[in-house]
Amino acid sequence: MAQLLDGKKTAKAIRARIKEEVDDLSGIASRRPHAVFVQVGNVPASTTYVNMKYKMAQEVGMLSTVERLPGEIGQQELLALLHKYNTDRSTHAILVQLPLPSHIDEFAVMQSIAPAKDLDCFHPENIGRMVLGLPGPKPATPQGILMLLDEYKIDPYGMNATIVGRSNLVGKPLGLLLLQRHATVTWCHTRTRDLPAACRGADLLVSASGKPGLVHGGMVKPGAVVVDVGTNYVAVTQPGGSMEMKLVGDVAFDEVEETASYITPVPGGVGPMTIASVLYNALTLYKLIEGIV
Ligand code: GUN
Repeated sequence: MAQLLDGKKTAKAIRARIKEEVDDLSGIASRRPHAVFVQVGNVPASTTYVNMKYKMAQEVGMLSTVERLPGEIGQQELLALLHKYNTDRSTHAILVQLPLPSHIDEFAVMQSIAPAKDLDCFHPENIGRMVLGLPGPKPATPQGILMLLDEYKIDPYGMNATIVGRSNLVGKPLGLLLLQRHATVTWCHTRTRDLPAACRGADLLVSASGKPGLVHGGMVKPGAVVVDVGTNYVAVTQPGGSMEMKLVGDVAFDEVEETASYITPVPGGVGPMTIASVLYNALTLYKLIEGIV
């Protein structure tokens, strides 16, 4: 029976360590880390995420600002606001919550955030720095997954790591970070011919496919470490007959926990680690900008 990789507990411990470091550094530096979260429009999920990031940044002792802009705002106005924070010496980290309204060019917005303040690591320059192994922010979910593995002393060194999904946010950068940690990486995606065979070779299997139940018991090597990045909302019928939306991952948990050595739950696995990782990025950017080593 697999051991749970408890993201909720681990994220809490990491936030406590970040708070300690923020408190220590704020004693020696002239200012505290300051993160700015920008939301355009009022997509409810974005409001939830931005509120959570704001609250957690405050809790670890950072200064934190939320800018909520109307959905009708013009792109130039948004870029002007970002320019203000790019050039503001007391701001260390900027995040623009996605998705943006369709009249705004997301890529142009991501490119207009100063790389030194790019909390999400969405800027091409920071992706390049990550690929080269240079200091800087890292994509939040992949970095959060590595932090979770580290906490449980699971070292990817020499492992066959198979990733289902090749998104710019998760699959692609995670593979590159695992390669830096000396894993042998395989990326699987919608065109992979024999997905079960590719997965069965994995010592570390990460699913970021967005398909509930895609990874089932027969796809997992005995003793493999299984990380479920899926955040899928599915309708389930309640005992009284009413329908409710439930958050599930990509992995058929009940089957896979019989085979795996470690497994992340959904919820409470990768999700909380992503937010801890965003805070870690804010601390990293702060230290680089303020010249703290
Ligand atoms: N929307 C969904 N996930 C993310 C994320 O990681 N960063 C930002 N900025 N927006 C998102």
